[in-house]
Amino acid sequence: MKLWGGRFAGATDSAMDDFNSSIRFDQRLYRQDIKGSMAHATMLGRQGIIPKEDADLIVKTLGEILQDIEAGKVNFRVDAEDIHMNVETLLIERIGEPGKRLHTGRSRNDQVALDFKMFVKDEIQEISNMVTDLMKVILSVAEKNLDTIMPGYTHLQRAQPITLAHHMMAYYHMFSRDRERLSDCLKRTDYMPLGSGALAGTTYPLDREFVAKELGFANVTANSLDGVSDRDFAIEFCSCMSLIMMHLSRFSEEMVLWSSLEFGFVEMDDAYSTGSSIMPQKKNPDVAELVRGKTGRVYGDLMTLLTVMKGIPLAYNKDMQEDKEAVFDAVDTGKMCLDIFTRMLATCKFKNENMYAAASKGFTNATDFADYLVKKGTPFRTAHEITGKLVLHCLGLGIGIEDLSLTELQELGGDFIQEDVYDAISLKTCVDQRKLIGGPCSDTVKADIEKAKAEL
Ligand code: ARG
Repeated sequence: MKLWGGRFAGATDSAMDDFNSSIRFDQRLYRQDIKGSMAHATMLGRQGIIPKEDADLIVKTLGEILQDIEAGKVNFRVDAEDIHMNVETLLIERIGEPGKRLHTGRSRNDQVALDFKMFVKDEIQEISNMVTDLMKVILSVAEKNLDTIMPGYTHLQRAQPITLAHHMMAYYHMFSRDRERLSDCLKRTDYMPLGSGALAGTTYPLDREFVAKELGFANVTANSLDGVSDRDFAIEFCSCMSLIMMHLSRFSEEMVLWSSLEFGFVEMDDAYSTGSSIMPQKKNPDVAELVRGKTGRVYGDLMTLLTVMKGIPLAYNKDMQEDKEAVFDAVDTGKMCLDIFTRMLATCKFKNENMYAAASKGFTNATDFADYLVKKGTPFRTAHEITGKLVLHCLGLGIGIEDLSLTELQELGGDFIQEDVYDAISLKTCVDQRKLIGGPCSDTVKADIEKAKAEL
């Protein structure tokens, strides 16, 4: 018979059991569920709500059930619906009457909210550590490439010279914000919901603070309706994961581009590349492509949760059972991508000469030429126009600004142009002179890296 079977005269159809049951995915919460029940039972015993011996026996047996599950000795039952009733059923099977006291002053509604929050809290920690690992790899690539000049792009057109270190540190800061967002999400997840009951709390003198403390929560929820029906934490978590994936995806897109023959900026290690079943020469950046592709899944998980929650009245509704698979998928996908991307990046070989060669073509020093004219007294708008005409002239000849002779430069740009112009528009100067906070100058980026290292 079902744990809730008393009110029913007939049995459920087995198709209904299959449809209604969540055990196939929420068994993943067994540890949280059992730990939560242990804390609840301990508290019930301490408060004299159930006999102390019963509480002790429940806690002991739950510990054994936990071990058995971990040893693969437990078969969960679809007709016991979910992880909560499966664990409770196992408990009652093993100890009988005392086991039937566990659910005193509790509902599956506050129980599932508790389990789910515990799960998300653990994952926030783990994912945050993985983001940190990626940030460390990014830092080490940056440190080695403070002077590796490459083109910076806008509109995917070569724009101005930067360094690989500067480019890497841009990603460092994105992931640093992602980590902050996770820890912020943790703050709002850290509210213990047991004691909310089904929706209206309970008349038993539960010690909610004790349970919160036992389970490592900083606070207890302040409203029982909200306590059972809030899934903001799951949505916020999936939104954090979506942002992480979006950043990984942009990074991946660059890795795909950079590993092409057209760019030739990077070569991925064989360990993280694939070949083609027909074209013998191929080496494909599948890691980066898959990460980019999987980003859509995680956005989908976020959209699933937002959509599940948008129209349901207070408090608990069964729709909310749909929350778990979305979060599990965001966790699994995100962790898999973080892990493999970090490995791939750590073993990448950057082709510095190709980056430099690319930066020397495409007039990436044109802004600096205009700025040279400005320093000699020309208004910027005029300097811009003069430089534009000069670029057009060079395009016709298939050469760069620095390839023009001083006489030619003076003819086209003004006779105040001196020999020092060549130094002013060298790629090294273009980078070195951009020393404002945030710029690519190697000392500036170095300072940023030092600060980052101290923070990590
Ligand atoms: N399996 C359910 C879920 O995941 C647990 C809560 C069920 N509550 C209920 N009143 N039927 O949401």
